[in-house]
Amino acid sequence: MKKQRLVVAGSGSTYTMGMMMSLIEEKERFPLKEVVFYDIDEQRQERNAKATQILFQEQYPELESFSYTTNKEEAFKEADFVFVQIRTGGLAMREQDEQIALKHGVVGQETCGPGGMAYGLRSIRDMIQLVYDIRQYAPEAWILNYTNPAAIVADALKREFPHDYRLLNICDMPIAIMISYAKILDVDVWDLVPEYFGLNHFGWFTKIYDKEGNDHTERLKQLIIETGFTPEDTEIANDVSWQKTFEQARQMLIDFPEFLPNTYLQYYLYPEDMVEKEDPNHTRARQVIEGRQKRVHDTCDQMIEKGTAKGADLHVDIHGVFMIKAAASLAYNSGQRFIVIVENNGVITNLPDDAMVEVPCLLTSQGAKPLVVGEIPTFYKGLIEGQLAYEKLVVESYFENNKQKLIQALTLNRTVVNVKKAKAIVEDLIVANKGYWPNYE
Ligand code: G6P
Ligand code: MN
Repeated sequence: MKKQRLVVAGSGSTYTMGMMMSLIEEKERFPLKEVVFYDIDEQRQERNAKATQILFQEQYPELESFSYTTNKEEAFKEADFVFVQIRTGGLAMREQDEQIALKHGVVGQETCGPGGMAYGLRSIRDMIQLVYDIRQYAPEAWILNYTNPAAIVADALKREFPHDYRLLNICDMPIAIMISYAKILDVDVWDLVPEYFGLNHFGWFTKIYDKEGNDHTERLKQLIIETGFTPEDTEIANDVSWQKTFEQARQMLIDFPEFLPNTYLQYYLYPEDMVEKEDPNHTRARQVIEGRQKRVHDTCDQMIEKGTAKGADLHVDIHGVFMIKAAASLAYNSGQRFIVIVENNGVITNLPDDAMVEVPCLLTSQGAKPLVVGEIPTFYKGLIEGQLAYEKLVVESYFENNKQKLIQALTLNRTVVNVKKAKAIVEDLIVANKGYWPNYE
């Protein structure tokens, strides 16, 4: 097995340490010779890097080299894989996005509605630049991107790099939901075989099989409705906000029992209830700053002080394991099946070819090979078409420097609808995103 040189771009992330634990857990299946951290924020990167150095010394002695840098050439030269997890504007801008939307009485969320639009317009510019930078030094590297909002980012990258099959957009939500299915069904999550369709953060599981072909779908639905639905991955299991989200997914299933919904649909199907649940002075960004970020920073600081990872509060998380298993399938051409984001091209027959859809794919050395979904029922098609138009308008607005398209986008978005609100939100977001967004006239 060829050993890989992996670069983590955006290594200052609060998810990095979980990812490093996952690399250790998966080292037999995805062996590494070198890990390189890349970030533009030296300070955030350094804390994670110093802790990782200690962790790898103790638990990954086979690794030939670990380093961290803010230099693109040093980072990307000879890379086999680049995992990209950047957040333009950081959690501070996430908080702005959430609060501005809530101030106007609509959903304030990282990837949904006005917040998703704001973040999308910030991410596009940096993601395009980053992909050019990676391609300059590593034309053949696999780029696994999970920068949000993945739907908008994927569409923009497809426009800019239409033939780059080694650039793949991935989200961990489907697998994070499947962990809960596995728990309910009392099976291993990797033994489940899902059928799924939609856009990123906007999709449905139509079937849940196991590897022997047994269909667990109806029993699973019944168990969720009767006994409840809770997050099970270590990263989110004890998080009150995620617990509420999974509870709401159960309600969605009661209201629309045909398919099993992605949790993010709650923001589009019950927007008023979501607004009511929020405290504008303590939105999700603040919770993450005080929760996950503080926990990760404290853990790293303690490791660095003690010089050991022993006893540290570090866990393998599904997000990391999923990315690594997907990477291994690409690297070793094993054609394993994962839900990822690809160009539709007839996979969902009654949606446009150029839509970036999230569907089960076989991951091979020639890229992601989507499996046929076929025709989807009218209700889902209608919902998806509205959301897809919103996403396309945001991306078009970016490339064409067209403010009117942002107002159209929010008018179409189920979290806003009202034109007066759409206009006011766009104006506020333009001010808040000065320096990050295109200069709209
Ligand atoms: C899931 C989604 C990600 C999203 C994250 C937010 O993992 O798939 O796209 O960024 O949740 O979680 P947080 O805990 O930061 O609100
Ligand atoms: Mn996601």
